[in-house]
Amino acid sequence: MDTIRIFDTTLRDGEQSPGATLTQPEKLEIARHLELMGVDVIEAGFPVSSQGDFESVRAIASELTRSVVCGLARCAAGDIDRAGEAVAPASAAGRGRIHVFCATSKIHREHKLRKGKEEILKLAVRSIGHALQYTPDVEFSPEDASRTEMEFLEEMVHAAVEAGATTINLPDTVGYATPKTYGEIFSHLLAKLPVLRERKIVLSTHCHDDLGMAVANSLAGVEAGARQVECTINGIGERAGNAALEEVVMALRTRADYFNVGTRVDSTKIYSASRMVSALTGLAVPRNKAVVGRNAFAHESGIHQDGMLKNRQTYEIMDPATVGLPTTVLVLGKHSGRAAFRDRVTTLGYALTEEQVESAFGRFKALADKKKEVFDEDVESLIDEQLDVSASLWELVGLQVVAGTNTTPTATVTLRDSTGETVTDASVGDGPVDAIYSAIQRLTKIEVTLVDYRVQSLSKWKDALGEVQVEMEHSGRTIRGRGRSTDILEASARAYLAAINRLRSLNRREQLVSAKAAV
Ligand code: KIV
Ligand code: ZN
Repeated sequence: MDTIRIFDTTLRDGEQSPGATLTQPEKLEIARHLELMGVDVIEAGFPVSSQGDFESVRAIASELTRSVVCGLARCAAGDIDRAGEAVAPASAAGRGRIHVFCATSKIHREHKLRKGKEEILKLAVRSIGHALQYTPDVEFSPEDASRTEMEFLEEMVHAAVEAGATTINLPDTVGYATPKTYGEIFSHLLAKLPVLRERKIVLSTHCHDDLGMAVANSLAGVEAGARQVECTINGIGERAGNAALEEVVMALRTRADYFNVGTRVDSTKIYSASRMVSALTGLAVPRNKAVVGRNAFAHESGIHQDGMLKNRQTYEIMDPATVGLPTTVLVLGKHSGRAAFRDRVTTLGYALTEEQVESAFGRFKALADKKKEVFDEDVESLIDEQLDVSASLWELVGLQVVAGTNTTPTATVTLRDSTGETVTDASVGDGPVDAIYSAIQRLTKIEVTLVDYRVQSLSKWKDALGEVQVEMEHSGRTIRGRGRSTDILEASARAYLAAINRLRSLNRREQLVSAKAAV
């Protein structure tokens, strides 16, 4: 059975999802998990795009020891130099890759690049040569390949291979292809260009989900000979996103009888990766999302439940354990000790430091006091919030809300800032949540516009943990935050603070970067 390389671009294309900006420690955390999962190539960022991105790619390239670390570059010397420098620590260990791209379709050539075919061809060849000065592992992407004239695509791919590219990625940049037409691009190139097989060039898929066909198109590419799939955790990415890693990996695994290929990914780490990416980007996973959605393995109808009890395979094509989904119903209670808690955290797929476990354990005890039964979902929420809270600047210390019929809603909020000082203020509002948010705005002095507010229940029964997700705008920037508590008003305050904290840490990072640039 052939092995398909999994190229994860959560930290590059995924981070291009509006509002999904990640800090450097968050990117490192995700990269570590991807390596642990057995992802072959991690596209860690677009180094020339910002100093922060450069530093993140460099930090990931310095720390990882197994996955190939890749940096993206346009066909421009400055881009390639930045990418080459950023992945240098990995290149020194034979695991650094530069991914060079240049648009080739007619519409991009004429309207975006304003360059002719010959010029683009020369530019690509020159850029690949330049990238080879940093690493022998150079990937080339003719952007918008699926809308490029086949003859020109053929010419371009041939020239890129002759110039020394070892991986050729054929992006369906705007999610326009269908499985049949996308697969045909691969079959056509393999038939027309024998050099691809002679030099063992790896052909790669990169599909966007504008018409909901990203995974189907990627799999069609594999059927037609692609041996690398570019994808992201939870399918996040530009616009409608990219092909979802978990769906690609599980389709290849579950239908190995059909595809006859495998991957090196440890699928039991999929669920925790999904939770981590969702927690750190603030992008919620839809309940009905394939493989990792909360309902993906839930059976509601009586007929289905009856079938499941008789034989799971009547309605389940994958064992939830193979994606690392916790299957235990009831896990911990207020009498559970530290060891049981640590054990459950590890089983759920988290690799926390002792300090992080200790802090999460304190929060677990507080929750167990409020709630009779603590489910796996509750524990996951605690840890996810823990990961968010590590970057916390403002902390919620106290909250009192007065609301009801014929009463003006009033909230009194106490916060602790990063110096340890506590401050209290009160405010009225149109409703209890509005009152809380206006009190927090008075305390933090950060004015934001709330554009979205959502509440959902995370676990079972009436004492379930509630999760509030907010989306806000500040100076043209979108930021998200989420908060959890058995009390929805407290969860609302936590979500708002998480977003404010995220905004402050992003601003701080930018200030640091521009201060460095000024030196
Ligand atoms: O979608 C796309 O074409 C890309 C390229 C940079 C590979 O993301
Ligand atoms: Zn893309």
